[in-house]
Amino acid sequence: MKAGTVEINRIHQGDSIDLLKQLPDNSADLVFADPPYNLQLKGDLFRPDQSKVSPVNDHWDKFGSFSSYDEFTRAWLHECHRVIKDTGSIWVIGTYHNIFRVGTILQDTGFWILNDIIWIKTNPMPNFRGTRFNNAHETLIWATKSKASKYTFHYRTMKGFNDDLQMRSDWLIPICQGSERVMENGRKAHSTQKPEELLYRIILATSNPGDLVLDPFAGSGTTAAVAKRLGRNFIGFERELSYINLAMERIDKAEPISSQLLEYRTEKRRLRVPFGNLVEKGLIRPGEYLYSANKKYKAEVQADASLLCGGHAGSIHTVSALVTGKEKQNGWDFWFVQRGRKLVAIDELRQEYNKAWGMEQAARSKEHRADSREQGANSKKHGAGSQW
Ligand SMILES: C[S@@+](CC[C@H](N)C(=O)[O-])C[C@H]1O[C@@H](n2cnc3c(N)ncnc32)[C@H](O)[C@@H]1O
Repeated sequence: MKAGTVEINRIHQGDSIDLLKQLPDNSADLVFADPPYNLQLKGDLFRPDQSKVSPVNDHWDKFGSFSSYDEFTRAWLHECHRVIKDTGSIWVIGTYHNIFRVGTILQDTGFWILNDIIWIKTNPMPNFRGTRFNNAHETLIWATKSKASKYTFHYRTMKGFNDDLQMRSDWLIPICQGSERVMENGRKAHSTQKPEELLYRIILATSNPGDLVLDPFAGSGTTAAVAKRLGRNFIGFERELSYINLAMERIDKAEPISSQLLEYRTEKRRLRVPFGNLVEKGLIRPGEYLYSANKKYKAEVQADASLLCGGHAGSIHTVSALVTGKEKQNGWDFWFVQRGRKLVAIDELRQEYNKAWGMEQAARSKEHRADSREQGANSKKHGAGSQW
């Protein structure tokens, strides 16, 4: 499989800007970039016991000046902007040394920033000199090609992942350690190997199985290995052959998760069927009564699908809330109709409706969504729409 002339599911050796130029326009679904930090470290650093710290002072991280770093950043981000699909997005990770420069250039290139995520390291390296606060986080910027991009985001999946709490922008994840850390002769094989946990979350949340994930600074192959596990395709670019060799070894060992386990089942939305549709189609007739489960409340269905109960008139939701004295009440869970000797939940009739006329309804909803977008009324609509 290829993207243009570039082989997919491989790490390619070379300069990322040259290699990015070989990719066709709109070919990548997701880009994860962990570019050089431009740390500008000088001199050796020692722990209190005089053992030497192995910081990031690799030659690939050295730039002559801020302006040469900016020039490099502009060049690779410009190419990424060209190769990302309109439905795709980009993640860039960095520290205070480079992330503000990267953020400005991202915006200047036309990207639209969606979030900045703070990766809080639960086990950061101490500030050995004791001259500053302990630098315990990195920043990730998540952006789309433009403000209008219809990007992938598995919101419900992320919420479920986080015990049904909306996933926040501060992520507590340890730095790469233990058996995951690739070692060579007792030393870290790559000074900035990222934790797989971080990439797992990013790829799961913002791409789909079968998508193409591109990493222009592949290093030890973390992005590619996790992409393979999650059933995505990948392309990596890396200058150093020694890193490519260790990346390929990791990728070979990565076991893809079965495709059935990768389906986003919680994302599948229930089709919105207004109660009026059941009346229109004759599943419930005007003049019939709806009952609460214990038959304490009884409401008459009007021709316009509103309910009348005591002195209260309104939708199935409004009337159920009014009679129970609650601020909100889901009418679909509250009301039943008499069918023979049984009470049948109106939600069951909604499912019957779905089976018979679901396709028609889906087409109506699609048209409606297109109209709403045209009117630029999206944000208002989300607020005003039914929750049920
Ligand atoms: C911060 S590291 C990425 C680490 C990676 N995320 C991982 O988990 O192992 C940046 C990598 O980019 C590579 N690199 C730097 N400049 C490059 C360039 N112009 N073209 C290709 N690779 C480059 C370096 O060799 C280094 O491995």
